[in-house]
Amino acid sequence: MAELPSRGILESLPVAVLVVDQVDAIVFANPSAEQFFQTGVSTLLRSALPDLVTEDNPLLSLISKARKQESAIREFGFRMSTPRLPTRSVTVDCAPLGSAHEHLILSFHEHASAGRLGGALTHKDSARSLRGMAAMMAHEVKNPLSGVRGAAQLLEKSVPFEDRQLTRLIIEETDRICKLVDEMDAFTENPRFERDAVNIHEVLDRVVEVAKRGFGGNMTIHQEYDPSLPPVFGNRDHLIQVFLNLVKNACEAAVEPDTELHITTKFRHGIRLAVQAARSRLDLPIMVTIADKGPGIPEDLQPNIFDPFVSTKMEGTGLGLALVTKLVDDHGGIIDLDTGPDGTAFHILLPMQKNGETASDDDR
Ligand SMILES: Nc1ncnc2c1ncn2[C@@H]1O[C@H](COP(=O)(O)OP(=O)(O)OP(=O)(O)O)[C@@H](O)[C@H]1O
Ligand SMILES: [Mg+2]
Repeated sequence: MAELPSRGILESLPVAVLVVDQVDAIVFANPSAEQFFQTGVSTLLRSALPDLVTEDNPLLSLISKARKQESAIREFGFRMSTPRLPTRSVTVDCAPLGSAHEHLILSFHEHASAGRLGGALTHKDSARSLRGMAAMMAHEVKNPLSGVRGAAQLLEKSVPFEDRQLTRLIIEETDRICKLVDEMDAFTENPRFERDAVNIHEVLDRVVEVAKRGFGGNMTIHQEYDPSLPPVFGNRDHLIQVFLNLVKNACEAAVEPDTELHITTKFRHGIRLAVQAARSRLDLPIMVTIADKGPGIPEDLQPNIFDPFVSTKMEGTGLGLALVTKLVDDHGGIIDLDTGPDGTAFHILLPMQKNGETASDDDR
């Protein structure tokens, strides 16, 4: 068989491919890379990799790792940010090339979910991985902890009075960890939840009532509802939890005197989510927005706020938004986010109930 032209193969690949030398200068770029970076091949060939990505981009540390290990690395769910384009979630492959590994070949596969809504979608991955971890934690951590707590209680009776603060500390700390694990139980795999017609305004009224009696006592809450909104196909308790977490965050973000909070509902046409396994699309016409006038979410935190244990608060668990993601995901919904120095708005898009639909989550 005649030898195939390797350069031609690389050029016709539908994925973006770059080759860089020892000092990260680009020595090869295919037409897909041109599209991916929205930069012509000739400009790419005059650039170095650090010119293409933002300064703090983890790509640079990824390639130095591949160089050090002298082996290929693949990273999924990579947040690719370039100075010219919005952040995208991609899979990056990075492999040393040549006998002396003097070059590195990089390929970038963009995930199907593009754009801002897609950005929100990728947060589902964090909720999914958390589910597995929650099940493991409940099993591996809670059982031994109850033994530790019991032993500390027994010890408490026999140790001298001045040492009791130590046994108290053990008991209090085991209680705290148990509580955390209980909260994480809410993430366990495939919860069978009933779904039915839910009046989203009744859900939101309930959330406002809870907020006003507690954490939102000082807030002015405006409720702007679309009265013609059809019912959501959902689970009332779970939806209350979703909006309670979002309203609580909004109240906590508010800084006097800007203590206004807007809760809005709208019917939006044309928002669809591709359900890949079912090769179908799910309509998500019901949009609920929770908007505050707080200082916004810092840019460096934005890619991670939906991940568990990410919190900027002294007493925060960082599980609030991870749980919101998981519950919205269970409904087949989407979370979108607008944030800036004048405030933050979380938009939740949910499916409506079609005629006579009632179900558990099996037939989503
Ligand atoms: N409306 C908002 N405005 C500004 N920052 C926000 C807002 N909502 C969330 N955040 C940021 O996202 C982080 C994660 O929120 P999340 O609800 O997951 O955890 P938390 O609120 O810190 O803890 P917990 O929910 O357990 O009280 C918060 O610590 C905060 O920094
Ligand atoms: Mg919170």
